[in-house]
Amino acid sequence: MYAALIKDNSITYGATEDPDISENDILVKVNTAGVNAADILQVLGHYPPPPGTVRDIPGLEYSGTVEKIGSKVTGFEIGDKVMGLTAGGAHAQKLAVNAGTALLLPKSLDSVEAGGFSEAFFTAYDALALKAGLSPGESLLVTGAAGGVGTAATQIGILWQCRVVASIRNEATRRRFEEHFARLKSMNSCHRDSRGSLLITFHNGATLTVTSPEGECLYQKYHVFLELLAGKHLSNDLEMSEKGARIAVIGLLESRAGDIDLSLLLRHHINIFGSTLRSRSNEEKALLSKRIGEDLLPYLVGKELSVVIDSCFPLAEVKEAYRYFRKGGKFGKIVLSAE
Ligand SMILES: NC(=O)c1ccc[n+]([C@@H]2O[C@H](COP(=O)([O-])OP(=O)(O)OC[C@H]3O[C@@H](n4cnc5c(N)ncnc54)[C@H](OP(=O)(O)O)[C@@H]3O)[C@@H](O)[C@H]2O)c1
Repeated sequence: MYAALIKDNSITYGATEDPDISENDILVKVNTAGVNAADILQVLGHYPPPPGTVRDIPGLEYSGTVEKIGSKVTGFEIGDKVMGLTAGGAHAQKLAVNAGTALLLPKSLDSVEAGGFSEAFFTAYDALALKAGLSPGESLLVTGAAGGVGTAATQIGILWQCRVVASIRNEATRRRFEEHFARLKSMNSCHRDSRGSLLITFHNGATLTVTSPEGECLYQKYHVFLELLAGKHLSNDLEMSEKGARIAVIGLLESRAGDIDLSLLLRHHINIFGSTLRSRSNEEKALLSKRIGEDLLPYLVGKELSVVIDSCFPLAEVKEAYRYFRKGGKFGKIVLSAE
């Protein structure tokens, strides 16, 4: 097969051996696979894959077709469409994954969307639903909102009738984000306020305010934070917390160090937590996959949720796709097409 190959801290495209499958695996002919910051870090040698994972092919999410089935696998047939998370190896024409972690897909689902779904939506759902217990009517701040996880978390907040504030630093990206959400069928009304932020209301009662990082503190205090930046943002979060707030630290794009006033934790009864998906066991990934299949997949099929796609590159142009990712300023996901 052909794959994106890590050589000397750089990414190339070339021929390599097809992966072997174990008795609990399926072999997937990859159709599309999303690009994530972790792939870039892995190429640079900063984020090695967990033990047992292919080391020289990046790629944490995929969609594709089942081509071979391990002897102990049940519930899959050759030709089934699947998508899911993996700890590495998805930026290739073929991928071996533990069958329990794969989600069966309706054939109608757009394959480019399916390739960019898992990392963003699993992360946002796990943090907001399972860890933070986000409830209808609560206020949610999403920082770094124009990327893959941010666009997923914003949509989940809207779906759950929350008061969402999406914070985006780059003005051009913010405009693309505004246009996207103002065009949704679920949109009820839309106006720009005196501070220049766009406020959108939705038929289900949810609201979305799109603002810059400086505007985050102007609208409301927050019950839940999806914190993709950390650093100095974390200390701001504490200042903007409702009593009993939950802060999910998922990314460290601003900085891994931060100076926080711990007295605010006590005063506002704040719960700060972090997590990663990649290091979880197949059993944990399978459980999460099952929840997503029940709670989110129907909305994706019904087009009430969508994967925001910035661009799709042929797998052979992986070097260019990674360069484009690193440049910043994208809206949503970058996906590689292996077909
Ligand atoms: N813990 C987990 O399991 C897990 C899972 C998935 C992702 N993550 C992490 O979560 C983060 C977001 O992932 P993603 O897929 O959404 O990434 P992404 O698609 O690259 O989006 C990141 C967004 O954050 C913005 N941003 C970056 N640095 C910023 C800063 N200092 N201040 C304000 N905005 C900033 C970017 O804006 P520009 O375009 O202007 O640069 C971009 O819109 C990454 O760090 C990723 O590694 C963690």
